[in-house]
Amino acid sequence: MIAKPLAVFLATLVLSLNAYAAQPAEKNYAEHCASCHGADRLGGSGPALLPENLERLRRPEAFKTIAEGRPASQMAGFADKLAKEEIQALADLVYQPLPKTPVWGADEIITSHTLHEFNPLPNRPVFTADPLNLFIVVETGDHHATLLDGDKFEPIHRFQTRYALHGGPKFSPDGRFVYFASRDGWVSKYDIYNLKTVAEVRAGINTRNVAVSGDGKTVLVGNYLPHSLVLLNAEDLSLIKVIPTADASGKSSRVSAVYQAEPRGSFVAALKDVKEVWEIAYAKADFPVRRIAVENYLDDFFFDQSYRHLIGAARDGKKGQVIDLDSGTKVAEIELPGMPHLGSGITWEWQGKPVMATPNIKDAVVSVIDMNTWKTVKQIKTLGPGFFMRSHENTPYAWTDGFATMSPQSRDVMHIIDKNTLEVVQTLRPIPGKIAAHTEFTRDGKYALVSIWEKDGALVIYDAATFKEIKRLPMNKPSGKYNVFNKITRSAGTSH
Ligand code: HEC
Repeated sequence: MIAKPLAVFLATLVLSLNAYAAQPAEKNYAEHCASCHGADRLGGSGPALLPENLERLRRPEAFKTIAEGRPASQMAGFADKLAKEEIQALADLVYQPLPKTPVWGADEIITSHTLHEFNPLPNRPVFTADPLNLFIVVETGDHHATLLDGDKFEPIHRFQTRYALHGGPKFSPDGRFVYFASRDGWVSKYDIYNLKTVAEVRAGINTRNVAVSGDGKTVLVGNYLPHSLVLLNAEDLSLIKVIPTADASGKSSRVSAVYQAEPRGSFVAALKDVKEVWEIAYAKADFPVRRIAVENYLDDFFFDQSYRHLIGAARDGKKGQVIDLDSGTKVAEIELPGMPHLGSGITWEWQGKPVMATPNIKDAVVSVIDMNTWKTVKQIKTLGPGFFMRSHENTPYAWTDGFATMSPQSRDVMHIIDKNTLEVVQTLRPIPGKIAAHTEFTRDGKYALVSIWEKDGALVIYDAATFKEIKRLPMNKPSGKYNVFNKITRSAGTSH
């Protein structure tokens, strides 16, 4: 047996020898990684490697990626070139903030702008399916999207997207074009009729989502990095202007999400780090910003169907706030104890009055709230906290998942709630053990499409009246699906 002090000495010696042999992470990065991920880590042919962008990548996963690479991608493994400690040091490096806040302003945006099509393409689909009953299915497993015929449930076309799309894609008001935003700030305009990406621009370094104005003329981008909103021409994605996001005192803020409020002719922006909500009139010259002061940090919104009221949830608080957008004042507080996911809220008529319902990310309940009194009508118990909730004008049911906490008891279920009795009437397990998420209905509300959110996942299509499965399509982590008609008509059963 070796004496303890000797063992400590030997261990220290081994460590220092390793440290001597190993190159510093910065040097390894420049040598092995910069060609694809950018000398400044802002990205290139590979994704940006910044702590903001890697929020969803767990650290052991980053280590594994660098050591083993990623299948079917340019990312090769480095286990044969670099020592374990060097790989660990690189994995630590990518979670370090850059020494200087990177600049991404008008110059960088304009330089990144790319037009893929210069001449107008024909304004009719190259396929025969109903252009208003199409779905865009985002498959984040391998960064593709599938255009799906919503009558036959057959894929029409599958195409590559930018790396890691973020926030739902948004359609032009006529349903011909769809706009995607990626985690790393790329905005792409895709022509559904011609199956082509027509324009792209990098509007930020770390982006949350896009909104398209009700008149179809303007796209608004909300960024975490830099702290900015970016207005683009919807026609060709050329830059209109960059609006730095700071409150009246100059304190700057990330943008959590942007929305379009067509009945008001405006965009609304949720700011994460300051107590303001912004409304931007998109039809007025110069896009004036109206600041609405609020009592708390509100970063997840729901709107009533008229867009008069904004319901905001604070990530730290237990109460939702109802803001009257006309007067710019708080008119009520809502009891929302379980951390609601308001962005996924829906509305319907219940006993002659409008109600809204939202799943909760922490508590296993769906909150149903009377929108006249803003009082809770019911907390519907579910097997686990849910993330998405969906319905349609033509169905008496609302569907909600239970995967928000990834609990093995509930991540594979889909609850079906009767919108009249407010009871769970059916609990489906589309594929036992596999994550079930995000329902979306066909244009007529007759079928419900559920995602199996796995790399070897699927879309499972149900008859929305009998809950019988009618078809299964293999998909690579289908994180969401978006029906053209339901989105452009702002169906009360889906987020807009
Ligand atoms: C030949 C180009 C290339 C080189 C060289 C390269 N990468 Fe990558 N890397 C990629 C691509 C492409 C991806 C995205 C893979 C995918 O589709 O999942 C990626 C993904 C990653 C990810 C995961 C990012 C995320 O968002 O999940 C990390 C971390 C990473 N690379 C680190 C490194 C490090 C560290 C090095 C140097 C030791 C390196 N890469 C070298 C192209 C490259």
